[in-house]
Amino acid sequence: MSLTYPIQGKIALVTGANRGIGKAIVEGFIANGATKVYAAVRNPASAQPLVDQYGDKVVPVAMDIADAESVSAAAKVTGDVQVVVNNAGVFKHTAALDDGWEEAIEYQFGVNVYGLIYVARAFGPILAANGGGAFVQINSVASLKNFSNLYSASKAASYSITQDLKVALEGQSTLVISVHPGPIMTDMGVEAGLEEIAEPPSQVADAIVEALASGEFHVYTDVLSRQMGEGYASFAKNVVEPVMEVG
Ligand SMILES: NC(=O)c1ccc[n+]([C@@H]2O[C@H](COP(=O)([O-])OP(=O)(O)OC[C@H]3O[C@@H](n4cnc5c(N)ncnc54)[C@H](OP(=O)(O)O)[C@@H]3O)[C@@H](O)[C@H]2O)c1
Repeated sequence: MSLTYPIQGKIALVTGANRGIGKAIVEGFIANGATKVYAAVRNPASAQPLVDQYGDKVVPVAMDIADAESVSAAAKVTGDVQVVVNNAGVFKHTAALDDGWEEAIEYQFGVNVYGLIYVARAFGPILAANGGGAFVQINSVASLKNFSNLYSASKAASYSITQDLKVALEGQSTLVISVHPGPIMTDMGVEAGLEEIAEPPSQVADAIVEALASGEFHVYTDVLSRQMGEGYASFAKNVVEPVMEVG
């Protein structure tokens, strides 16, 4: 069974929607016919520029994805959502042998890993109630290869959890998508020192719109992402994507 869920005519929610890739996804969804997008952000005022641009098609909702209660409270007021994009994420340069590794791992796992689980647990039942829908997780090329930082470890963990969600949510007809951007021109891209090779965040949005229509699980969004995706393709198709009965 191959699930697809085109964005046209759908109601979506995007975490971290006020800037960077999240903002581009809101814009891309509306350009491709989404009827309403909840901009799930820590500070609702930060989504005002999107409201100014798109009017009542954008509805800001307060959500700190690292706080389970905040995520649950947001889910209570967004019960009509059909497409959830968990995009919010954080980056620090710290590597495993650096001073400050404990603080860095707690911070990044708190948002990039716990946050994903909080969002999936709060919105899985809502997607089921609304007929299945789609759950999109913004992972990274750093989910596939460690770039000498604990951020990569957090994105490997979120990718692993995305695979779990794919299997777990298939039974309720939810399409699950794992997106693997390379260097993208956002505040995080600058913080990571990627300006010279970074590509526009709209490319990530366009790739998600296409994947919702095609039902692809692994999504590659830019030059480096596609290069790594080609190298990974055989393992992805033959090992990651098939459901394997173990034990
Ligand atoms: N840029 C890249 O090169 C790149 C490459 C691969 C993957 N990614 C992934 O793409 C996603 C978006 O990154 P970006 O480049 O757009 O980063 P960004 O420009 O730094 O934006 C990060 C977004 O996440 C939000 N956020 C952070 N912590 C949050 C929390 N606890 N609760 C809710 N929202 C929170 C931020 O909100 P505030 O404004 O409130 O801080 C902001 O909207 C992340 O998951 C990142 O790991 C990025």
